[in-house]
Amino acid sequence: MIYRMNIVTAITGASGALYAQRFIHGLVAAGVQTHLVISPLGRRLLHDELGMESVDLGVLAGTDDHNISLYSYNDVGAKLASGSFLHDGMVIVPCSSNTLGAVAHGLGDNLIARAAAVTLKERRKLILCHREMPLSPIDVNNYKVLTDAGVILAPANPGFYLNPATVGEVVDFVAGKLLDLIGVPHTFDTRWDPKNIRPPAKSV
Ligand SMILES: Cc1cc2nc3c(=O)[nH]c(=O)nc-3n(C[C@H](O)[C@H](O)[C@H](O)COP(=O)(O)O)c2cc1C
Repeated sequence: MIYRMNIVTAITGASGALYAQRFIHGLVAAGVQTHLVISPLGRRLLHDELGMESVDLGVLAGTDDHNISLYSYNDVGAKLASGSFLHDGMVIVPCSSNTLGAVAHGLGDNLIARAAAVTLKERRKLILCHREMPLSPIDVNNYKVLTDAGVILAPANPGFYLNPATVGEVVDFVAGKLLDLIGVPHTFDTRWDPKNIRPPAKSV
């Protein structure tokens, strides 16, 4: 039997829908079985930033040939809500401060928070790609609580040392970093190599 990775992915109502789209492109390209939950505000961001009238899995995947299962945000009885469902980790991208706070305090009143709580209790990898600026003191406290609990905080904080020339390259830097953290191979350009530095873009 061929083993296929299972990754839980959540999209919440923080800016940066493109990060989610490119992260999911990477999962699908690697043949990962993707278990997707989107919060109501996450759906709004998909509309506002990607122009999606309704969730379009083909657009999120970059292909109609994908292994994405979409779960209802309110269904806290879905299999992702149980520790008996085996998976290889969970990534919330982008992650709002609201969901960050819910995860930090162990809430479970929606499938995203519940799946994250279960991922933590089962000691699986949980990665939050938080997006907010500036951080509130409460966000900073939540970072500490989450880090102490073993969560990886991977804020949407792209590096520019590869001299990106397009928004897509900036986005792919973050998406590729998330794929590295969850252990999915990808071809996004994220590696620093001092022997192969691209010249700076002349303008943006
Ligand atoms: C257009 C738009 C952009 C937003 N961007 C952010 C953001 O970058 N970070 C954040 O923490 N909240 C942001 N919010 C607020 C969250 O969507 C809001 O707190 C919501 O309750 C989050 O719910 P969720 O965590 O269930 O998705 C934004 C809201 C809208 C409408």
